[in-house]
Amino acid sequence: MELAGSDEVRCVWTNELGGLTFSAGERFIKWGPKNLETSMAREAERLRWAGAYVPCPEVLDTGEDWTHEWLVTRALPGRSAVDPFWIEQPEAAVRALGRSLRFLHDSLPVESCRWQWSAPARIRNARERGIEVPPDFDHAPEIDRPVVCHGDPCSPNTLLLDDGSLAGFVDFGALGVADRWADIAVGALATTWNYGPGYRELFIESYGLEPDHERLDYYESLWEAT
Ligand SMILES: Nc1ncnc2c1ncn2[C@@H]1O[C@H](COP(=O)(O)OP(=O)(O)O)[C@@H](O)[C@H]1O
Ligand SMILES: [Mg+2]
Repeated sequence: MELAGSDEVRCVWTNELGGLTFSAGERFIKWGPKNLETSMAREAERLRWAGAYVPCPEVLDTGEDWTHEWLVTRALPGRSAVDPFWIEQPEAAVRALGRSLRFLHDSLPVESCRWQWSAPARIRNARERGIEVPPDFDHAPEIDRPVVCHGDPCSPNTLLLDDGSLAGFVDFGALGVADRWADIAVGALATTWNYGPGYRELFIESYGLEPDHERLDYYESLWEAT
């Protein structure tokens, strides 16, 4: 693989779209088929913007050919929140994830964010991709607080230092302004996939809120529907 130069290349991640992520020395190379939901050029733009406010990878290169695209970033320290080190201590991991998401929302400035991840924008995008989103979803709950959302706040996209402090965020392809519950719902749901049942409330508590069941239900279902 040319992008890796002389460094040893290791595949560290595969996603459901056929995308692969490799580590090569101090770099990470994300490569995958082009898709209609997001693009690595979009992700690079968002990383460059967000990097002024929160720790996230520095973009070193992006590119594409007819069918595939790639993004090369500088390695962040720490390990993913789904590293075996964290799977063995789920409570500490979930607390760190809830706090980290709150830090993200408190740090990124809504006023200067150019992108949207609102419910209507996501529904429109999904319908353009041929997904049938039931009309019920067009009635989103009133926005509680607009923040710049991560857009894919699943556990593996937060990297932690071993003391539980935040090392950084990855995977900003969908980052944009939305109700904070859009991220909280998915972050909480994702804890059940990675650590098992029983951690959602702890995630929300660590974020610093009481569960808002109406918004949690809506944004969880929207995630699954789109
Ligand atoms: N710059 C980076 N530094 C450290 N780890 C990274 C970096 N980029 C990606 N990773 C690791 O690779 C995994 C996959 O990258 P990600 O951007 O989340 O791809 P995907 O869109 O396929 O989920 C992440 O969960 C993270 O563990
Ligand atoms: Mg990811």
